[in-house]
Amino acid sequence: MSDFIKTARKLPPEHLAIIMDGNGRWAEQRGLPRVAGHQQGVETVSLVIDECIRHGIRFLSLFAFSSENWGRPRQEIDALMGLLLQYLSSQRQKMLTEGIRLRVIGDSSRLSKPVQSALTEAEKETSKGQTLTLILALSYGGRDEIMRAAKKIAQQALDGHLDIEQLDNKSFSAFLDTGDLPEPDLLIRTSGEVRISNFLLWQAAYAEFYFTDVLWPNFDAVELQKALEEYSQRKRRFGLTDDQNEPQIKESND
Ligand code: IPE
Ligand code: IPE
Ligand code: MG
Repeated sequence: MSDFIKTARKLPPEHLAIIMDGNGRWAEQRGLPRVAGHQQGVETVSLVIDECIRHGIRFLSLFAFSSENWGRPRQEIDALMGLLLQYLSSQRQKMLTEGIRLRVIGDSSRLSKPVQSALTEAEKETSKGQTLTLILALSYGGRDEIMRAAKKIAQQALDGHLDIEQLDNKSFSAFLDTGDLPEPDLLIRTSGEVRISNFLLWQAAYAEFYFTDVLWPNFDAVELQKALEEYSQRKRRFGLTDDQNEPQIKESND
């Protein structure tokens, strides 16, 4: 089989992760307040979810609010939390109808009580969704997540429930917020910034990265298609040689 046919028939990423960046600049370019950019960004979220379902992507992680974003002006934080609550109530029916399962990662203890309960409720209600798992990273930082996992592990060891000698990559991962979720295959960042900004530090070890200058509110089906096409051309090696990886590529194309 030619390389072209192989890549053309490659499966879409099972797990797509996105750093949705550029809302503020989108608004500033239009002389609008930053919150207008966040509002427009929510529209893009809905569109991208539809597109992921269409492409058969099973897991979508969205970086919505970082542990560092708590340092932003109070007014902007409040506006973002308001948009989140609005989003959850407006999308409730759609999530249930379309089989979208919500999962939240991050330090939720820093979120307000109303936000915490709305999220817990939505996670519970949508827990049977089979089509797409939507992972919202809120109050999330990769370092913070790893640190919290390390503390849980240390506590279990102190309590005599865990043998440190038995700890390996797999059992360590289970203590992360992403626990049972697969690792991201493709990580997209919009707005021209070429950095990870503390997103999925552990999980993105072998993710393919795709950076685009497009600001998040302008990101659309065509831009996603471009990213997926580029992904389909990438050769993932996971530290091995091409020959070693070949059987897996063949398998996924059969
Ligand atoms: C991303 O857009 C959304 C959040 C971080 C909540 P920004 O608000 O960071 O937009 P820019 O980077 O200032 O343009
Ligand atoms: C990353 O964007 C966080 C989210 C998209 C939620 P930031 O705008 O906060 O990242 P930096 O500050 O440019 O690195
Ligand atoms: Mg930004």
